[in-house]
Amino acid sequence: MPPSTLPLSMLHLRTGKLLLRPFVPGDAPAFARYRSDPDVARYQSWTSPYSLAAAEELVTQMQGRHLVPPRPGEWNQVAIQLTDAQPGDTTLIGDCVFRVHPDDVGQAGIGFTSSKPLQHLGYATQAVRALLRALFDDMGLHRVTAACDVENRSSQRVLERVGMRREAHFVQNMFFKVAWRSEYAYAILRSEWSAGVTRPPPPFVGLAPSPTGRRFSGLPEFPNGHPLPSFADSGQP
Ligand SMILES: CC(C)(COP(=O)(O)OP(=O)(O)OC[C@H]1O[C@@H](n2cnc3c(N)ncnc32)[C@H](O)[C@@H]1OP(=O)(O)O)[C@@H](O)C(=O)NCCC(=O)NCCS
Repeated sequence: MPPSTLPLSMLHLRTGKLLLRPFVPGDAPAFARYRSDPDVARYQSWTSPYSLAAAEELVTQMQGRHLVPPRPGEWNQVAIQLTDAQPGDTTLIGDCVFRVHPDDVGQAGIGFTSSKPLQHLGYATQAVRALLRALFDDMGLHRVTAACDVENRSSQRVLERVGMRREAHFVQNMFFKVAWRSEYAYAILRSEWSAGVTRPPPPFVGLAPSPTGRRFSGLPEFPNGHPLPSFADSGQP
């Protein structure tokens, strides 16, 4: 199915206390700030500190993005802000990304990040639900996927809370910054989303310490620092 015309609502999704909207130039400082937090960067593609120049570059790139409809193969970054912040306060508190698969426009991959002071408040879960609603209900996609490091429990809990199914456990499938790392692959079908599927969390699979004894620190570096699910993106440069 082609990525049909995406309604404008995709660009301004309101959900609970959140607004998902396109990036604007003023977002760069907050974006650089939360990406610079080593805990936020740990399982992601970029390294901390994340410079203001890098943030400005990515934000500028997003200005030219075709979100309506999205171009297959391009990662689209969507800004998240609070709706009940001080009047005029449009500060970014996180972001979601999505990419319609370059070879299969019925499928998309997603990713998400919250700034640390605003984690554990349910915002990432809310934002991902809003994104899934847009991808399934507005765009009519067939399947949405995500991948995360096996040690990234917060991400797994978000993915499971929104009803995504753990489909695969890739063992040391990627060399990431300092070590070979393992990933879980998640997915949800439109039929499952529409049926409001919920899933019990799968059992935790314990991990042996990494050979280097160091913690994992992110997903592979891709152009523009997008948190690209590696299992689904072999065609990515
Ligand atoms: C993964 C990540 C986005 C989760 O963000 P978050 O905003 O904390 O996510 P949520 O608040 O929706 O859910 C996290 C916690 O909040 C709790 N929560 C959910 N709704 C809540 C609510 N209404 N009130 C209070 N707490 C709530 C959840 O129980 C959950 O707790 P747990 O982690 O102990 O299970 C965040 O940790 C992050 O940015 N990490 C770095 C980037 C990253 O790894 N991204 C994923 C790449 S695959």
